[in-house]
Amino acid sequence: MKNILITGGAGFIGSHVVRLFCNRYPEYHIFNLDALTYAGNLENLRDVEQKPNYTFIKGDICDVEAVQEIFTRHAIDAVVHLAAESHVDRSIRDPLSFARTNVMGTLNLLQAARVAWNDLTDKLFYHVSTDEVYGSLHNPDEFFVETTPYDPQSPYSASKASSDHFVRAFANTFGLPTVVSNCSNNYGPNQFPEKLIPLFINNIRHGKPLPVYGSGDNVRDWIYVEDHARAIDAIFHRGRRGDTYNIGGFNEWRNIDLVRTLVATADRLLGNPAGHSERLITFVADRAGHDLRYAIDSSKLHRELGWQPSLQFEEGVERTVRWYLDNQQWLERVTSGEYANYYRQMYGD
Ligand code: NAD
Ligand code: TYD
Repeated sequence: MKNILITGGAGFIGSHVVRLFCNRYPEYHIFNLDALTYAGNLENLRDVEQKPNYTFIKGDICDVEAVQEIFTRHAIDAVVHLAAESHVDRSIRDPLSFARTNVMGTLNLLQAARVAWNDLTDKLFYHVSTDEVYGSLHNPDEFFVETTPYDPQSPYSASKASSDHFVRAFANTFGLPTVVSNCSNNYGPNQFPEKLIPLFINNIRHGKPLPVYGSGDNVRDWIYVEDHARAIDAIFHRGRRGDTYNIGGFNEWRNIDLVRTLVATADRLLGNPAGHSERLITFVADRAGHDLRYAIDSSKLHRELGWQPSLQFEEGVERTVRWYLDNQQWLERVTSGEYANYYRQMYGD
């Protein structure tokens, strides 16, 4: 029996990781610590919540006493840390909350692990991070590898870079068994519709404008969320302690090409004539400091742990569009309340 603390398990990626671990490892007990911010949603875990090896704990990773208490009360053996503020646009509006959660929250978890773990045998602090810490690529032949120097360009990526540094500092200074993975852009079911793909599917559904920042030439490397969860599983169990792994789909798309693919897929599934929703594509002011291109080289993960993405992008997009069209109620519930104000401030009515 192992007691595993997963933070941010009610969020997009976290819910897929919780589901995978609960289903695949009945011998583990999964404690999901989540503050249920606007991005956290227990509805994402309806199929898991009755399982005997799952416990939800509502709490803030910055709460020193609460986190220490969780480590001792539940004899935590390992942490998979996903809780974070995760949206670049919000980090431009409110950088302080990103420093608080992403930097101080991570540091608080590291401290609690260090204090609780006298015997480090079979312990692990797994920190889930992003490729955005490496900055922005301008040369088309370049990819992010694990040794690419950090060069974060947004408040979000700066806060994630800082948290990565603290994790490595705790490994080096205190001998804490750690592993870090840096992943590219995820897509799939349960992603909060402030991020490009679910936002645009929802807007197509409602005939609302699709706000493409700048010229639409920025490039992102997309990975299906369940493939990320499988990579986390592989690294958690077989990754070298103290090491870093890049995770990505070798799947680069220019934003405007991706948007056209989304439009075509959604129109087909909605029974609209081909090209019907193209008119919704609207070029708007660029994001401040918009990173041009992210592209991950995940060959180390493939070579050392045998992981590779399972889905072709077209299949992943089709599954994803279908999921959002079939789960209108989920979308409506998460887009009411606080998010409605955010949307108005970002994009108008
Ligand atoms: P998300 O915003 O969907 O979910 C974040 C979760 O963390 C939510 O459930 C939220 O309630 C919780 N949370 C926020 N602040 C908290 C706090 N103070 N205490 C406890 N819980 C808190 O994020 P996501 O997209 O699922 O990303 C998860 C992790 O993966 C993040 O660390 C992110 O940096 C990283 N990541 C994301 C992507 C991506 O494309 N989404 C890519 C690479 C890495
Ligand atoms: P996003 O999903 O926010 O992820 P990230 O910024 O972490 O890569 O955005 C993906 C890309 O889409 C990014 O280049 C910004 C762009 N984008 C738009 O053009 N319009 C939008 O409304 C949003 C949210 C993003």
